[in-house]
Amino acid sequence: MITGGAGHIGSALTSRLISEGANVAVADNLWRGSKEYLLDDRGKPIIDFEKNFFEVDLRDYENCEKVMKEVDTVFHLADVVAGITYVFNNQAFVYRANAMINSNVFESASKAKVERLVYVGAACAYPHFKQNDPNHPLFKEEDMYPAQPESAYGWSKLMGEYECDLYSKSGQMDAAILRLHNVYGPHSDLSPERSQVIPATIRKAIRYPKEKFVIWGDGNQNRSFVYVEDVVEALMLAIEKGLNKGPIQIGTDKKTTINELADIVIKISGKNIVREHDLSKPVGDMGRAADATLAKVLLGWQPKVSLEEGLTRTYEWAVSHLKSHGAV
Ligand SMILES: NC(=O)c1ccc[n+]([C@@H]2O[C@H](COP(=O)([O-])OP(=O)(O)OC[C@H]3O[C@@H](n4cnc5c(N)ncnc54)[C@H](O)[C@@H]3O)[C@@H](O)[C@H]2O)c1
Repeated sequence: MITGGAGHIGSALTSRLISEGANVAVADNLWRGSKEYLLDDRGKPIIDFEKNFFEVDLRDYENCEKVMKEVDTVFHLADVVAGITYVFNNQAFVYRANAMINSNVFESASKAKVERLVYVGAACAYPHFKQNDPNHPLFKEEDMYPAQPESAYGWSKLMGEYECDLYSKSGQMDAAILRLHNVYGPHSDLSPERSQVIPATIRKAIRYPKEKFVIWGDGNQNRSFVYVEDVVEALMLAIEKGLNKGPIQIGTDKKTTINELADIVIKISGKNIVREHDLSKPVGDMGRAADATLAKVLLGWQPKVSLEEGLTRTYEWAVSHLKSHGAV
């Protein structure tokens, strides 16, 4: 069972598991995901939509009970995720939705006696004051406390880690917790309303000059970007080697500024793009990157796809996606 399996990371994981012969079911209310992401190159569904796709809202406990039947493994990826403007304008909604989804999924999975579950936390939950300290070293797992995430989204993801850990520590469920840095790749939301920074930057480059290429803030804020295929690999390894080990960070040790990201995207576009900065827009925390030693030691995980390669693949996907939706 992949909750959120029609989303960005979930659809890539579904595809990987199917290719390895697993029997996969997906639960997603399509708030941001799409059944289109579960089609193969010839447009055929990669799972049986009639039998194995549950279009349900996981804020409702009964729906969670329904989708956990006859399940041995749960990858819990469903949550409300969106770009910074959406998150800051809808804090109570985001917190409540994620708190309900996470709590329902853990309890129903435990009651259904699933053999193992993976939950994903988020690196943006690291304390605000540490992320805004330019001299802060690469983040380690223990840097999460004392807790002070910047946003309600960060708090909801951290509370998910905490609650998942309670089930794991009390022996109610074998669970792994991956704490993801900024994930990018195909099947991400490109819309102006809800997109995160990489899909938004790529959309602006593709649509330029129809849409202005505007960077939010001075562009010196940085993030650790990790390609979706590397994250899928970590999820697979977590099931094998990461159970009951507490949170494990998944990210790169490279801090990429938004200006550097824009440079690469402009280069890939081959266009003569004039960039602008909007200093009135929110930029989030100043920056963070991962010391992923624990992931290496416990899971044998290391990122493989370079930012240039991952961005090129994402750009190609975005061109065809926007064209097929008449949005170029
Ligand atoms: N993308 C990132 O940079 C990133 C970083 C850290 C953690 N994460 C976590 O990874 C997971 C997957 O994120 P993603 O990037 O694939 O985002 P996504 O939005 O593409 O996937 C989340 C999926 O959950 C579904 N969903 C939302 N509310 C739901 C509800 N009430 N009931 C059922 N389904 C619901 C959405 O429709 C979507 O398909 C999330 O838990 C997110 O917090 C993502």
